[in-house]
Amino acid sequence: MHPRIRWGIVATGNIATVFARDLALLADHEVVAVGSRSLERAKTFAEKYDVRRAYGSYTEVADDPDVDVVYVATPHSDHLATARYAIQAGKAVLCEKALTVNAAEARELIALAREKQVFLMEAMWMRCNPLHLRLRELVAAGAIGEPRSVQASLGFLATYDPNDRLFAPELAGGALLDVGVYPVSLAHHLLGAPRSVRATGTLAPTGVDATVGMLLDYDGDAVANLTGSLTGSLPNTASVAGTDGWIDLPRSFHDTHQFTLHRPDGEDPETYAVELLGVGYTYEAMEVARCLRDGLLESPLVSWADSLAVMEVLDAARGQLGVRYPGDDAT
Ligand SMILES: NC(=O)c1ccc[n+]([C@@H]2O[C@H](COP(=O)([O-])OP(=O)(O)OC[C@H]3O[C@@H](n4cnc5c(N)ncnc54)[C@H](OP(=O)(O)O)[C@@H]3O)[C@@H](O)[C@H]2O)c1
Repeated sequence: MHPRIRWGIVATGNIATVFARDLALLADHEVVAVGSRSLERAKTFAEKYDVRRAYGSYTEVADDPDVDVVYVATPHSDHLATARYAIQAGKAVLCEKALTVNAAEARELIALAREKQVFLMEAMWMRCNPLHLRLRELVAAGAIGEPRSVQASLGFLATYDPNDRLFAPELAGGALLDVGVYPVSLAHHLLGAPRSVRATGTLAPTGVDATVGMLLDYDGDAVANLTGSLTGSLPNTASVAGTDGWIDLPRSFHDTHQFTLHRPDGEDPETYAVELLGVGYTYEAMEVARCLRDGLLESPLVSWADSLAVMEVLDAARGQLGVRYPGDDAT
């Protein structure tokens, strides 16, 4: 394997930019190619982030023999097609969250990665954050006793534009896939797959979900209360509580660099903190590198089963809200 991990970035939007900046902080990573629907945009991105090759399509990135990993940073509606092409070209894939539009698409992608023996990971960077790893260890080790509840919200006031990827049904917009995926993934990280999902919410004029509230229940007497919104500034905090204490994650819980463990007996709270490298996308990139060097097809931090279980919760919630995407009809 090449001593440096050579990335090909697909799309030139918001997250592609932030990810490229974080990759620049890692000595053993480099971006060798970028692809856009517009060659001009790819060239501009390449100049700005010191990328060797710019392509006016996404497929050329996957076909570039110097690319080890394709990073898919397109709207949700495109994830399946671009990731599928890259896997078929034999390229490892880091695909933005939510992995796909629905669980059926996720199953298809995972089956293809298994068949082609190619690495695939959802870019659920929160799970690679060292503090979230510590959180999971503490909860699993009984630091708060038996877990009983997870509460989490993530939301912001997005400017309404029916053509924007956040609101357009044909781009699989909506609060669940964009922000709701984080609270759902956090609850899955700490409690596993739920027994049942109940969702309620409001819809945007385009018919996608605007604000969603979810109640999940789990074997072992645990519940989760989760919210995602594109139409309100939520606290963006989280907490996990158990029989013997609780842990508070401050705003914004998904990229936090600290949390506090409280005990009901009045003991002094304990704060756990780390200094994050860059914005925090560095950790998912390092995890991809570790997996590739170890010859893994999936990351134990964001396993295929985990991504699929999260998609199943999102499907259930979305179904209860009556939100359907064009991609749902194809599967
Ligand atoms: N991990 C995170 O923290 C994080 C944060 C934000 C978003 N995301 C995820 O990253 C993905 C992209 O989000 P983003 O915020 O980067 O979106 P964005 O700023 O709108 O960029 C998306 C890019 O996708 C490409 N694209 C392809 N087909 C498109 C279409 N029909 N309409 C618009 N753009 C299209 C465009 O690049 P070209 O024109 O160059 O082809 C565009 O710049 C989503 O899956 C989202 O959930 C993750």
